[in-house]
Amino acid sequence: MAAIETAPLPLPPSADLSKFVDFGREVKGVNPGTLTPEQFKEIERLLYKHSALLFRNVDLTPEQQYALTKAFDPTAENYGHGNNKTEGTKKSILHPDLKTIPRQPQVQLIGNGTVYNHEGLAEAKLKHPSHTTFHKTRVSEEDEAKGITRFYRWHIDAALYDLSPPKVTTLYGIEVPQGPRQVCRYDDGTGEELEVPLGTTAFVSGKTMFAILPPELKSLAVRSKVKYAPHPYVWMAPARAKPTGLGIESDSLELPLSELPPWEESKIKVLPLLWKNPVTGDLHFEVHPCGALELLVDPLPEGAKREGALHPDGAHITDLQTVRDLLYKMQRPAIAPSLVYPHDWHEKDLVLFHNRGVLHSVVGAFKSDQVRAFHQCNLAASDDPVGPDADDVKKWA
Ligand SMILES: [Fe+2]
Repeated sequence: MAAIETAPLPLPPSADLSKFVDFGREVKGVNPGTLTPEQFKEIERLLYKHSALLFRNVDLTPEQQYALTKAFDPTAENYGHGNNKTEGTKKSILHPDLKTIPRQPQVQLIGNGTVYNHEGLAEAKLKHPSHTTFHKTRVSEEDEAKGITRFYRWHIDAALYDLSPPKVTTLYGIEVPQGPRQVCRYDDGTGEELEVPLGTTAFVSGKTMFAILPPELKSLAVRSKVKYAPHPYVWMAPARAKPTGLGIESDSLELPLSELPPWEESKIKVLPLLWKNPVTGDLHFEVHPCGALELLVDPLPEGAKREGALHPDGAHITDLQTVRDLLYKMQRPAIAPSLVYPHDWHEKDLVLFHNRGVLHSVVGAFKSDQVRAFHQCNLAASDDPVGPDADDVKKWA
């Protein structure tokens, strides 16, 4: 049996190398579609340690992709948003982006342009999501023509209602159109921008997101939980995002909770801001900012220093603007250009990412004749993520 070899990911010149020591590995010497149980154990360990794994030049059927994804959570069965539905409603903002492979409904066909005779789909019209339909403001058509673009939406792959966030997402590039690089503009007054390959998937580390916070925000993060809206993708559908794609502008456009499809309080997700890595024990800042509704902050533990602490006696923050401002303050530093890994897709690339350890975003814009076809799979998990333990709280609060 050939040994599994790893190499660093090809980082762009924009990357701060000191922040990518552990992040990402290319894996060589194994076929991810036919791993032995021993090989899988090693891949699993590598994934949780490095957050993202790249396999090049892979042949992978939808069945193999499903089996590989399921191996990370053997009792998980259904796609991360439920099989054959995005919350059972066409009102969801995810609805147009997902097409199911008929014989393996946990695997989605995503991409751009029209794909014919694809794995049992006679014709699939795909549309690469664009910031122009999601952000409050947009890059002018003139600038878009020059190759200026934006991050679409920073997120975790998760229904955030009823179902638990998938542990792993697998993304397999089948058709990858080549084209000129683009410039991703933040448009938030910082002047920051990032040069990216056309149609990149951008990743940031949730571990770094926590690690770079000042002590008072670390203390807040380690004591806090976020309550998500019921049917968050329906709730947020009329609202519009910030220019960085990191959360929603507070213009009171969300659907009133009374106008959502039927929902139950017991299915609402309340999750810690920090998720504990099952292999390293590290804390990863994992919040899908668009779906956040409220913050629940625990008081400081006994003996903690109160000086400078935010909400030392705990808090239940229900004002949406305040919730979003706090989350943005904690998350925005980690999407700085030097902390983003924009993957440069080649055909037959397979990327596995620790969905509970990173945030990611679609980037860029294709023309309608640029055909892109990817298979994506993730599974609603068998459990919810684990938050900080008592020692973590003592250390960081
Ligand atoms: Fe995603």
